[in-house]
Amino acid sequence: MDKQESLRKEILQAHHHRFATKSFNSEKKIDEADWLTIMEAARLSPSSFGYEPWKFLLVENKQVKDDLQEIAWGAQNSLNGASHFLIVLARKNVTGDSAHVKHMVEDVFGVPYSESAPQTIFFNNFQKNDFDLTDERKLFDWASKQTYIALANMMTTAAYLGIDSCPIEGFDKVAVERYLAEQNIIDLTEFGVSYMAGFGYRAQERPEKKRQKMTDIYEVIE
Ligand SMILES: Cc1cc2nc3c(=O)[nH]c(=O)nc-3n(C[C@H](O)[C@H](O)[C@H](O)COP(=O)(O)O)c2cc1C
Repeated sequence: MDKQESLRKEILQAHHHRFATKSFNSEKKIDEADWLTIMEAARLSPSSFGYEPWKFLLVENKQVKDDLQEIAWGAQNSLNGASHFLIVLARKNVTGDSAHVKHMVEDVFGVPYSESAPQTIFFNNFQKNDFDLTDERKLFDWASKQTYIALANMMTTAAYLGIDSCPIEGFDKVAVERYLAEQNIIDLTEFGVSYMAGFGYRAQERPEKKRQKMTDIYEVIE
């Protein structure tokens, strides 16, 4: 087997290895260096215009985990057994004139920011005319979509490292956000909850993968 072929095999093995784990072994903890590799995969994820509209909360607090059980039905398995439990936030109101865009441009990209700079005008134009990102909900959903790229990268990286995961949308978004705000964990003017995810080690067999056929989902336009 040549190098490329074994690489292909390795990649697909990781994808077959991953499944939405319902039962975690609560005794088994993720090694810190492995966890930081998963988080680095999140940090390096691409985002629209490079504005990184996200934040990742690792929940270690037992009381917070217990309280979330009530309002996050899809997270109960992870809250009870996963080694690491993440709540991923999407930024609200990421517009050309927002403090976040100014921060990214000046502090991260290291270039001067101006509301009348061609880059800002281009971004405003993209948001309003190309993608109709014209109200708070649309802007949140656009930011939220981008956080899912980090989710995929984290889950695949974990699978490579033999670590299991479960993506979670099974929660009452309004109730979870209200709770996190009451606990002073998030500022709702800046962030909303996008998804949650558990990471750890399986305490179950992987069920058979059920997927549509390639010919059902993939078409070449010649
Ligand atoms: C965005 C998203 C949200 C999900 N929410 C939950 C959830 O709340 N709880 C859960 O146990 N599984 C959840 N899943 C897992 C899916 O049910 C699972 O990925 C799908 O059935 C395919 O199976 P597999 O991932 O095991 O191959 C979610 C998956 C995605 C991508």
